[in-house]
Amino acid sequence: MNPLLSIEDLYVAFRTPRGGLALGYRVVWALRGVSLSVEEGESLGVVGGSGGGKSTLLRAVVGLVKPLRGSIIYRDLDLLKLSWSQRRRVLREVGYVPQEPSQSMDPKMSVRDIVLEPLLALGVPRKLREYLLESVLELVDLPGDVKGRNIRELSGGMQQRVAIARALVTKPRLLLLDEPTSSLDVSTAAQILNLLKDLRETLGLSYVMVSHDIDSVSYVADRVAVMALGMVVEVGPTCNVLAEPLHPYTRVLVEPEGVEGEVALDPETACPAYRWCPWRRGRCAIERPKLVEVGKRHLVMCWRYV
Ligand SMILES: Nc1ncnc2c1ncn2[C@@H]1O[C@H](COP(=O)(O)OP(=O)(O)O)[C@@H](O)[C@H]1O
Ligand SMILES: [Mg+2]
Repeated sequence: MNPLLSIEDLYVAFRTPRGGLALGYRVVWALRGVSLSVEEGESLGVVGGSGGGKSTLLRAVVGLVKPLRGSIIYRDLDLLKLSWSQRRRVLREVGYVPQEPSQSMDPKMSVRDIVLEPLLALGVPRKLREYLLESVLELVDLPGDVKGRNIRELSGGMQQRVAIARALVTKPRLLLLDEPTSSLDVSTAAQILNLLKDLRETLGLSYVMVSHDIDSVSYVADRVAVMALGMVVEVGPTCNVLAEPLHPYTRVLVEPEGVEGEVALDPETACPAYRWCPWRRGRCAIERPKLVEVGKRHLVMCWRYV
């Protein structure tokens, strides 16, 4: 069976002004040939340090950034080849929870208006909207009387529940979650992770969950992809990647205790871990291998395993 979502060889670049006295632009490659897939009912975690391209990957799927190359295939449809209206219809099935709920929602809006926004855009009649609002608030364990309140009056955990409710209100099959717990304290984060686990079971959803924290991802994900400098350096079943991380960058993420100081990634070389990798060879600086399969569905981008 074909995957639900298949991202193939995706490239995204941003142009930013050089700043200072320098003229012109600098090009930042946020994604350099990313390929990933999600099966129906599967939960894929995407982990990596800040600036790795995780948010850009999700934003590309929902059409907020335009890739230079590659394809994003949802149920056999290449989203990048569809017209805007066709794409919007397909994306009803894809819920998106952006990073930082407080920044992605207008603080002056009520919970009702925020959650119902996607339905208004789709022209859903009022009665049905109210029904869907009630049922989605119940799903995310928010009390009914929260509807009229302004988002800024709510705690961080409740704001995140509202963001999840908004993503669920169109009854999606796939949920994209960008750092859903990073702005929360430990106990609230655990509640949100439990909610996500329950929702997936009740609704049979598929997830792509992005986080810089491998522990929270491993709680929800069946498979984990590790991203560094816009590349996937390793992907595999969560337990394999945690128990036996193969790429040096994954090892640092999984076992940061042994690492002194900050591990700087090297954007000038083919492998982001080149500067500090104990196993590096000359060719790691100039040429990167494709992801090679080293175990069942476990792939790593490293010349040691080719
Ligand atoms: N809108 C943008 N304009 C310019 N550069 C951007 C923009 N969005 C992301 N970037 C750059 O792309 C790279 C990847 O960013 P991002 O996807 O946010 O990474 P992550 O979510 O893993 O922290 C970073 O170098 C970031 O500075
Ligand atoms: Mg991010």
